[in-house]
Amino acid sequence: MDRLFEPMTLLRGPAWKNRFMLAPLTNQQSHPDGRLSDAEYRWLTMRATGGFGLVMTAASHVQAAGQGFPGQIGCFGDEHLEGLTRLAAGIRAGGAVSSVQLHHAGNRAPKELVGTPVCPSDDAETGARALTLAEVEAVRDDFIAAAKRAEKAGFDGVEVHGAHGYILAQFLSPEVNRRDDRYGGSLENRARLILEVLAGIRAACRPDFQLGLRLSPERFGLVLPEIREVAAEILRAGQIDYLDMSLWDIGKEPMDDAFKGRTLMSLFTELPRGDVRLGAAGKVMGAESAKSLLDAGCDFVVVGRGAILRHDFPERVRHDNAYNSPTLPVTARHLMDEGLSSGFVDYMKNWKGFVA
Ligand SMILES: Cc1cc2nc3c(=O)[nH]c(=O)nc-3n(C[C@H](O)[C@H](O)[C@H](O)COP(=O)(O)O)c2cc1C
Repeated sequence: MDRLFEPMTLLRGPAWKNRFMLAPLTNQQSHPDGRLSDAEYRWLTMRATGGFGLVMTAASHVQAAGQGFPGQIGCFGDEHLEGLTRLAAGIRAGGAVSSVQLHHAGNRAPKELVGTPVCPSDDAETGARALTLAEVEAVRDDFIAAAKRAEKAGFDGVEVHGAHGYILAQFLSPEVNRRDDRYGGSLENRARLILEVLAGIRAACRPDFQLGLRLSPERFGLVLPEIREVAAEILRAGQIDYLDMSLWDIGKEPMDDAFKGRTLMSLFTELPRGDVRLGAAGKVMGAESAKSLLDAGCDFVVVGRGAILRHDFPERVRHDNAYNSPTLPVTARHLMDEGLSSGFVDYMKNWKGFVA
């Protein structure tokens, strides 16, 4: 268990005091225009004082057209700077390293929020329209501008959201991305946007600005060996400081029959990564599963629902080798005591069996 509480140095930026990262968790608590609310400030700063080494914000859209959820925290305009600055300071005061998760929902943006959503290619299912080449470049530049804004606000870094079928994953998918320009076709072309975003942030922000990437390797038309190849290339290049794999279950087997009989995670822990750090998310609900993730070859542990249930998940693990999250469902009162607003509690009712 002690290893979970060893500090972790990274290639760039501040060391984390332990191996616990708060997962990016959409909570719909910000104002309709994307400015930070007091409720969102409270929710996140409580996780900083609860002992997380790194506190990640919820997915934060880099363009108004990329909004994926009502009440999403924005990073696309200078009107967001004041709230982001307050948040960065609050997380630091709580003792954690801070990061904004940069996001664009692409074809998953609800029509009620953005009008016609955009996508690498026209998409009949969602009614999304293909981005022009100039618009693809604008998406890239807006990811970079949002990172600059997070830097200006005082965040220690950003994580680029390349997971869960949002726009960067849409570009990676041969099913969704049918472009015939330099952003479509070969894997090299489909990975170009994500690589340009990472390189652009690295070039635009200060040298010790900590840069992470989140990937998920399955569903949404992704091809597992391709995502592994992209991850391998990014780890080899050493431009990012950490890779955060969103697996939804750290013990699961790959869906792809060719890889059955081993864990999905092992496909990534076995990649050479130099000093780039690797973490994963998916059902870490207590001390034992957190430890098992390090035993399986990860450097850090990403905690989502366990951190909703207890703001001080890391502290509880530190005091109790056998700590387990409260049994589900929990009451709304319990969640409010753990720093969720009533709106966030309502959102959690979408997760079957979570709220009584
Ligand atoms: C309420 C909720 C909101 C989430 N929001 C985001 C998000 O904004 N960005 C993201 O990359 N993942 C998001 N996720 C996924 C989590 O970051 C995490 O990967 C997932 O919940 C699995 O970890 P867990 O089993 O510890 O919850 C969300 C998950 C939940 C339950």
